[in-house]
Amino acid sequence: MKLSSGLGPRAYGLTKKTILLIVTGSIAAYKAPELIRLLVKDGARVIPVLTKGGAQFVTPLTLQTLAEEKSYSDLFSLTDEAEMGHIKLSRIADLVVIAPASADFIAKMAYGLGDDLASTLLLANKKPVLCAPAMNPQMWAASATQDNIKSLTKRGVNWVGPVSGDVACHEDGVGRMAEPTDIFAAIKSHFTASSILKNKKVIITAGPTVEAIDPVRFMSNHSSGKQGFAIAQALALAGADVTLIHGPVCLNPSPRIKKTIAVTSALEMQKAVEAALPADIAICAAAVADWRVKQTQDNKIKKAATPPTLTMQENPDILLSLATHKKRPKLVIGFAAETEKLEKHAAAKLTRKKCDWLLANDVAKHAFGADHNQILFLQKGKKPVSWKEMSKQDVAEKLVQAITTFFK
Ligand code: CTP
Repeated sequence: MKLSSGLGPRAYGLTKKTILLIVTGSIAAYKAPELIRLLVKDGARVIPVLTKGGAQFVTPLTLQTLAEEKSYSDLFSLTDEAEMGHIKLSRIADLVVIAPASADFIAKMAYGLGDDLASTLLLANKKPVLCAPAMNPQMWAASATQDNIKSLTKRGVNWVGPVSGDVACHEDGVGRMAEPTDIFAAIKSHFTASSILKNKKVIITAGPTVEAIDPVRFMSNHSSGKQGFAIAQALALAGADVTLIHGPVCLNPSPRIKKTIAVTSALEMQKAVEAALPADIAICAAAVADWRVKQTQDNKIKKAATPPTLTMQENPDILLSLATHKKRPKLVIGFAAETEKLEKHAAAKLTRKKCDWLLANDVAKHAFGADHNQILFLQKGKKPVSWKEMSKQDVAEKLVQAITTFFK
């Protein structure tokens, strides 16, 4: 049966996009119909999935009338399973949106539970996920929730909100679901980024390099690789064809990243970067060792009366070589790790390295390995812009937005 929302003629921004909308148990579920209305009006196909908790606040009939699509909720429905298996529901979607996402549902996602239709199909889902949390401010601030958010973010879940304001239980604070118009805007920008960045070839370097002295000893630095990995993940989620070339780190790359190459030294990193060309975009987030030992010893240097003298040799500058390459990527982005005179040193580095953009950070303020970063964003020929302190994932998202605008 086709149900009519009576919305009249449609605009076509989201035409051919299928959104699986999971509505979970929060009072903010009453805003889900408005979100469906906005999406349908913009041409999207919306398939609603309602959890038991969600059904306490909004009816399947409301959702399916507005979506003009059947609303699903039962994991063990024989008719639904015959018409459209629960795995297939996530396969046909271009994007899975969870709005509202309750604290309980977020915990289920984080722990990989599959005890109802919504959680089961998320477990089987390979498509990008956008989550709009809604809960009491104390629940949002709870360490358990924050740990779940962190681990889901690492797995590539994107977030819109929650925002600050009065919530249903009359407590003030962050926990309120983002407005349907804001969720709609986040969905639109997801698709804009993915249509512009789809199949754009990106080379990203990340992590430290390790330079051997002898078979036992080495020189390296404290880079964790977190920022480079977060950028690789965000670009891969936006549809880019990412090659991530990284030094030794304790991180697992997102499975969405097309190619991951683990290297050890600067020379190996340089070779891998060269082999990955041509590319549309290069992002050098690695902390490449500036020098290596001229003569690496084949055997362990034995302790003697006088300490050994190590003669150093300069490593290739990978960023500079990319920026001056005959196969130069259209957009070359560098990083600058500084401990003093951030703007002055970063501006000089932007010119010296001949890159287009530079993300500078003060590593004395935000230590290597931290989850947050504060960036001074420099673009050739423009005034530097200071980004507020944010998580490395958010820095990655912001950079993806800037890259999307660049290629528009
Ligand atoms: N970089 C590179 N190859 C090198 C050294 C640095 O590709 N051999 C890149 C880094 O990935 C980063 C940028 O250059 O994008 C700046 O790195 P940074 O360590 O801040 O600067 P250095 O060039 O090492 O200069 P300095 O140590 O004097 O700050």
